[in-house]
Amino acid sequence: MAPKAVVYTVFLAIWVGGLALMGACSDSGSGFWVNSKNPSGNASKEDTACAVQLASPKVSPMAAAMRAMLIQAETMRAYLISDSAQSSPPPAWAPMPFEKQMPTDSNVVTPDFLRRASDYHKAFERVGREPTPEHFNAVVAQCVQCHESNCPGPIKRINRLRIEI
Ligand code: HEC
Repeated sequence: MAPKAVVYTVFLAIWVGGLALMGACSDSGSGFWVNSKNPSGNASKEDTACAVQLASPKVSPMAAAMRAMLIQAETMRAYLISDSAQSSPPPAWAPMPFEKQMPTDSNVVTPDFLRRASDYHKAFERVGREPTPEHFNAVVAQCVQCHESNCPGPIKRINRLRIEI
């Protein structure tokens, strides 16, 4: 197998494994959502739309891709902050074409959304070429930027990925 195919296979395994794991942990998932809700109770429409999904083991393909992206980012973060970051190869970092997956709400896929997705993929690719904390934080910033307009629920959790430099 070509190296790329190997990376992709490993990544798919992480994805599928991750989905099973998150399904098993749906309690902590819903806990997170409950905590991240607006305390005054007037959560925005997006918050509510996102909240329904994490509480449920059945999610849209786009949400499943997002969970895989989160796991992949957490793995890369762990690598970048570890002592072995200089001496060992980086973890699998395979692009996830999430914008081509069916979302929970098909209205999210707008030209603006696709532009943000493209910015995200550029930042993602840079980390693959040069895995540094700076480049990684640029990816996290892209996650947050899109989420501010489309799905604010997970922003707190995404922000925790940021590496202090
Ligand atoms: C271009 C826009 C965009 C980018 C970039 C983006 N997201 Fe998302 N994200 C979304 C949308 C839209 C949803 C809701 C998907 C759905 O419900 O089908 C979502 C959902 C999620 C969810 C909730 C999934 C679930 O279980 O319901 C998580 C967690 C998440 N994203 C994490 C991330 C992380 C981490 C990154 C960066 C590595 C990221 N996202 C980048 C738009 C984006």
